[in-house]
Amino acid sequence: MAPLRQIHLHLQLPLLVVVVVVVVVGAVTAQAAVSGALGVNYGQLGSDLPPPSRAVQLLRSVGAARVKLYDANPAILATLAGTELQASVMLPNQLIPAAAANQSFADLWVASNLVPFRSSVRLRFLLVGNEILSDYSIRNSTWPHLIRAMERLHRSLKTHSLRRMKVGTTLAMDVLGTSFPPSAGVFRSDIADPVMVPLLRFLLRSRSFFFLDAYPYFPWTANSAIISLDYALMVKGAKTYTDPGSGLTYTNLLDQQLDAVFAAMTRLGFRDVPLVIAETGWPNGGDYDQIGANVRNAAIFNRNLARRMSAKPPAGTPARPGATIPTFVFSLFNEDQKPGPGTERHWGIFYPNGTGVYGIDLTGKKPDAAFAPLPAATNNEPFKGKIWCVVAPGKERNTTELAAAVAYACGQVKAGACRAISPGGSCYRRDSPAWHAGYAFNLYWQQFRSSGGTCYFNGLATQTIKDPSAGSCKFSSAAS
Ligand SMILES: *[C@@H]1O[C@H](CO)[C@@H](O)[C@H](O)[C@H]1NC(C)=O
Ligand SMILES: *[C@@H]1O[C@H](CO)[C@@H](O)[C@H](O)[C@H]1NC(C)=O
Ligand SMILES: *[C@@H]1O[C@H](CO)[C@@H](O)[C@H](O)[C@H]1NC(C)=O
Ligand SMILES: *[C@@H]1O[C@H](CO)[C@@H](O)[C@H](O)[C@H]1NC(C)=O
Repeated sequence: MAPLRQIHLHLQLPLLVVVVVVVVVGAVTAQAAVSGALGVNYGQLGSDLPPPSRAVQLLRSVGAARVKLYDANPAILATLAGTELQASVMLPNQLIPAAAANQSFADLWVASNLVPFRSSVRLRFLLVGNEILSDYSIRNSTWPHLIRAMERLHRSLKTHSLRRMKVGTTLAMDVLGTSFPPSAGVFRSDIADPVMVPLLRFLLRSRSFFFLDAYPYFPWTANSAIISLDYALMVKGAKTYTDPGSGLTYTNLLDQQLDAVFAAMTRLGFRDVPLVIAETGWPNGGDYDQIGANVRNAAIFNRNLARRMSAKPPAGTPARPGATIPTFVFSLFNEDQKPGPGTERHWGIFYPNGTGVYGIDLTGKKPDAAFAPLPAATNNEPFKGKIWCVVAPGKERNTTELAAAVAYACGQVKAGACRAISPGGSCYRRDSPAWHAGYAFNLYWQQFRSSGGTCYFNGLATQTIKDPSAGSCKFSSAAS
């Protein structure tokens, strides 16, 4: 779910440093007033995102208390200088082995990326990698080095007088082998002993947090006939669920997810490691075949989240009543360059042009009546009807890119399936690469959609409910 890792090893930029020093003095003011408010993930995989100065303005306009980056972007950190916003930065996954192997490397990374902002930015969390235990392709190269890298960076922070920063790593719900009922929560057997035990030991010893990415949206979409939408959206009065193992009663799906993680930690003997929700949220849009992704649901979820997570005294969860759980919503902007299904590009609380997707107050203080009415939900039930995959509007002209995508699609589909768009085929149109591309994209998607294939092709493709067939050329479609 998280944005793709962003591969930047930022070297120190002396010019920026100078600017920062000028801004700093006196600007680091008390921020207790907003400390219960949500933080926001500031992903940058958009072709049309505004500059950091605008992003920071927008963050403040909705009362954000914190911001979390997927790197240590110096331009963004420079913009945060002197603000009350707490910053969370990330060491990219690719650098974990080097940081683990070499203390000088860790020291240099901290010196280059963080020290320039040490006195101007409220640096709070250093996250070592993003959801690495969900990526089996780096199982051998990176997983075994995670704890060592965290230890070295922890030491580097001390060396560089950044003692207040906590070192953690973000993990997704798939670190659990069992998550239901919550009391049965247990870590996957491949990571429990080799990774989770030393990780939890490190987090406990360094008084850090377990950083969890938890999205009720995903289990709800997979079980929307069984789990009520209100329960997933944290609507008051939703039908509750009682865990037969613990006897605890749940009023929402997010609490269930959090308690499954608490149960898994407790099972390994670590009751006292506190949680941070590093990502959660709800998509404000998506493809025709994606259920429940709309502005109304996104607004309801994130508003309820803000109220719940900023409550005083803290609500906690049924298994950890009263626990404070700092929370980062995903994300600041809709990001048009995130691959995958349409929802991936629709998690923002803002459009890239800075317009709010819906009204939101991350301090949780505003009642619903203070916001403009929300649009009706159009897709809370599964879509019924036919869907096709075609070339996205405006992408018809980039013939080089389209040709590459067609070659890929035709290489994946059943042998001979692309014959229709070769000379003499029923869908061949001379000098019309976009037409051929639509045909190939549709072939590919109809064959692979049930196994997770998406209608995206780097932004070249999109779903349609208008049959693109023309004349003797038929585009196939299975009803959704
Ligand atoms: C350790 O990291 C430093 C800084 O990046 C580098 O100069 C040095 O060559 C590295 N040493 C080893 C043994 O990789
Ligand atoms: C990791 O190592 C194991 C055991 O040596 C091997 O079977 C597996 O293919 C490797 N996985 C990856 C992703 O390299
Ligand atoms: C910003 O973008 C959104 C989505 O494309 C659009 O609906 C809205 O009108 C835009 N706002 C302005 C001020 O251009
Ligand atoms: C076509 O796509 C390529 C590869 O992404 C890109 O470099 C190029 O600028 C695009 N050309 C047009 C006309 O959009």
